[in-house]
Amino acid sequence: MDRMISAIILAAGKGERMGGKVNKPYLRIDQKPILIYSLEKFAQSPLIREIIVVINENDLHRYQEVLALYDFDKPIKQVYGGQKRQDSCYQGIKATDEESDLVLVHDGARPFFSEKLVRELIRAAAEYGGAVPGLPIKDTIREKSSHGLVGETLDRKRLFRMQTPQCFRRKILLDALERAIQEGKYFTDEAGLVYQMGKVKALLIPGEEENIKITSPFDLKLAELITSG
Ligand code: CTP
Ligand code: MG
Repeated sequence: MDRMISAIILAAGKGERMGGKVNKPYLRIDQKPILIYSLEKFAQSPLIREIIVVINENDLHRYQEVLALYDFDKPIKQVYGGQKRQDSCYQGIKATDEESDLVLVHDGARPFFSEKLVRELIRAAAEYGGAVPGLPIKDTIREKSSHGLVGETLDRKRLFRMQTPQCFRRKILLDALERAIQEGKYFTDEAGLVYQMGKVKALLIPGEEENIKITSPFDLKLAELITSG
């Protein structure tokens, strides 16, 4: 496959739910900064030509410090993100090579996706215009009604937990982002954005149990368990 593929790593958040001083992408799991796990995975993938890291301006110094410790034989660009995840994604895609056919958008706080997942996403996105990983839900899901009382049970067979990387034709994602900006709409992932703004249904492929997003301190314990196992 000789497609031109760019990977965008979103690392420009603030990590409020983690509650620490150091932003999540720079916290370490088994000695290695969380961001480096994703960078290594994309750098090793022969399908990917360039990597864009979207960082928070306040983290510039830390980013440079961490990156200087590792070697990647692939171009890595850095750009500053925006207020919301979608703004950061837009900054990221603007920095990609216009020749890119496909882009992968990934949470910098998700260190444990596999090379196999990347290959499957790319294959499916080339065919369907977009492909995203998701996992079924194990728990019973209920709405909370007013005053904190229990509400309706939702049909969990129809519901999936979405993960990243999410892969799209560059043009489809860029157009959807520009339309969302014009209309002042925000989405929490690219699958939702492209579905609403681009009218493109990405293919839902099986996600991976260990592909957790490091969100709260408990996830760091889980991550240590995953790396040790
Ligand atoms: N992200 C980003 N730009 C934003 C918000 C989030 O690039 N304006 C990135 C985060 O850095 C993270 C990924 O998107 O790698 C997933 O977001 P999340 O887990 O919510 O991270 P934060 O927004 O940093 O955390 P919190 O919501 O707890 O503040
Ligand atoms: Mg967030």
